[in-house]
Amino acid sequence: MALHIIDHPLVLHKLSIMRNKETSTMKFRQLLQEISMLMGYEITRDFPLDYEEIETPLMKMNAPKLAGKKVVIVPILRAGLGMVDGLTMLLPSARIGHIGLYRDEETCKPVFYYYKMPANKERLVILTDPMLATGGSACDAIGRLKKDGFDNIKMMCLVASPQGVKAVTEQHPDVDIYVASVDETLNEKNYILPGLGDAGDRIFGTK
Ligand code: PRP
Ligand code: URA
Repeated sequence: MALHIIDHPLVLHKLSIMRNKETSTMKFRQLLQEISMLMGYEITRDFPLDYEEIETPLMKMNAPKLAGKKVVIVPILRAGLGMVDGLTMLLPSARIGHIGLYRDEETCKPVFYYYKMPANKERLVILTDPMLATGGSACDAIGRLKKDGFDNIKMMCLVASPQGVKAVTEQHPDVDIYVASVDETLNEKNYILPGLGDAGDRIFGTK
C-alpha cells in the first residue's frame, strides 16, 4: 500500500477554509466538491491508456484514450456523499455504490446499516469518506467490499489521523490511501485534531 498526500496548494487553501468553524454549510459543501475533483485528478493518474488512430483536421495520429478502466465510486454514508459529485465530474460514467456506517457515540465503533454495489466486481473501487479518524469505519467498509469480491480498492479521504492511517495500513495493506492532510492526533472522543469537526454535520447542516 501507499499513502499519497495530495498537498497541492489549491487543495490546502480550500481545506483551510473548510476547517474554519465560521465557514457555512453551503461553502463547506462546495469546497469539498472542488477538493474531491482535484484529488480525483491524482487518484486517476495511473489509469492505463490505449492508442486509437484518429484523424485531426490536418493528419492521422495515434491518440491516447483511457483503456476502459471501469470505476465504482463508493461513499461511506453520510459524509462520503460529499465527495461523489467532484469525482463524477471527472468520471461521468462511473457507477455509484453505497455503504452505510455510523460511529456509535459511546464506543466509537462503526455500526453497519446499508450496502448496495453494482454487480461487476472487476471495477476499481474509489471508497470516499472525508474523515479517517480511528480507521474503524474505513477498515469495516473495505472488509465488507472484499468479502463481496471487490479487491481493487483505493481510499480517498480529506483529513486523516496517524492512528487511522496505521489501522488501514495494517489491516488492508493492499489499499492505497489518498489524503489531503494527516493531522496531529485524535482527542478523547476520537475526533481528529485539529481536524474540521463532524464532517457529516458540516456537510448536511445537522448541528
Ligand atoms: C464519520 C466519518 C467517518 C467516521 C470516521 O462518520 O464520516 O465515516 O466518522 O471515524 P472512524 O475512522 O473513527 O471510524 P459518522 O460516524 O459521524 O457518520 P455520518 O457520516 O453519518 O455523520
Ligand atoms: N468523524 C468526523 O466527522 N470527524 C472527526 O474528527 C472524527 C470522526
